[in-house]
Amino acid sequence: MKVHPRTRLPLKQSTGAWVEPATAIGTGMLFQPPLPPRYAALSDTEMAAAIRERKRALGSRLVILGHHYQQHDVIEFADFTGDSLKLAQIGARQQNAEFIVFCGVHFMAESADILTDERVAVILPDLSAGCSMADMAGIDELEDAWDFLSDECGESVIPITYVNSAASIKAFCGVNDGACCTSSNARQILEWAFQRGDKVIFLPDQHLGRNTAYALGVPLEAMAVYDPKLPAGGLTPAKVRAARVLLWQGHCSVHGLFTTAQCDEIRRLDPDIKILVHPECSWEVVQKADLAGSTEFIIQTVRQAPAGSKWAVGTEIHLVDRLIRAHPDKSIRSLAGIQCLCTTMYRIDRKHLLWALDELVAGRLVNRITVDAQTRRSALVALERMLANVSAQPVAVK
Ligand code: 13P
Ligand code: SF4
Repeated sequence: MKVHPRTRLPLKQSTGAWVEPATAIGTGMLFQPPLPPRYAALSDTEMAAAIRERKRALGSRLVILGHHYQQHDVIEFADFTGDSLKLAQIGARQQNAEFIVFCGVHFMAESADILTDERVAVILPDLSAGCSMADMAGIDELEDAWDFLSDECGESVIPITYVNSAASIKAFCGVNDGACCTSSNARQILEWAFQRGDKVIFLPDQHLGRNTAYALGVPLEAMAVYDPKLPAGGLTPAKVRAARVLLWQGHCSVHGLFTTAQCDEIRRLDPDIKILVHPECSWEVVQKADLAGSTEFIIQTVRQAPAGSKWAVGTEIHLVDRLIRAHPDKSIRSLAGIQCLCTTMYRIDRKHLLWALDELVAGRLVNRITVDAQTRRSALVALERMLANVSAQPVAVK
């Protein structure tokens, strides 16, 4: 196998994942074959009853994990819900289950596979549930960036990847003295990185990187965006040398829908309302907001707020809807007037969940997400550094 001379990772791998029985259709994208037609004929009530029945039949052999952005029809069947960090922590503890059915997106299922024993099978009910942000960083692009930075810098660069990335990117960070982070502990991980190196390259989400570094006191002038689509990342050697944080040109298309104009309009209508956003929103939006933090931080903040308080929340619509339902004593709305929906999270529906469970009950394993042994070993190093730098509560980015 050909390996990169510096990173020692297999060359030009896409996600590092091996998947059965569906087909990979390009970097980061997987194809989900249509379900057998009988699933289309089932009513919601029939599906719900059947899912409960399969869960009973599989008992402790099965654990269902659900991210906060999952649709209501699915999250009700999760044994555990959480943000990316909490689900990684819970996933790592499931060493006795036989199957983890991950109601989330592909990178989360990969992390669960890396963090569990090889005997635990991790299943993603719909293989096309990817993440467009994770797809914005390919391992070959990162290797090119690393070569460029090594030639230009002459200083130690620490690679930090948001957990919303392919296993191969995590593995790269593992072998190059870097780490993973989530939006719940990005602050601790950046502090950890600054203790070890002169510069950080943060990928794939420029916004989480910028918002977190800024909160730590790094001025915007000491940050530069590296665009993997441009020669030399679109940077001059002088810009690279001047930057303390290099931000990958990547973003979340859902959180990109929140704007400063929405913040201004909401405050104009109601000066008492508090704006609470996810740090995947742009720096400008985070500056206008009162508070910014991970999905778990958003939930805790609203839960602890007094009755009668008013909130405009900038994150995925299913979580906002759930907050509205859970807190009728508070006034909660989405920051945007439009539906900010993560369409890939939305692909996990009752039909696909039931199908995956039906197959397990029949003794067949479908949509297993596995990461090859070499990638897994190195990615685990980066994930373990992430899990070693966690405080009891999710840390606000603002
Ligand atoms: P957290 O789960 O870390 O809040 O991130 C949100 C997200 O976009 C997950 O894909
Ligand atoms: Fe990816 Fe954004 Fe969807 Fe999260 S919300 S899975 S970052 S596209």
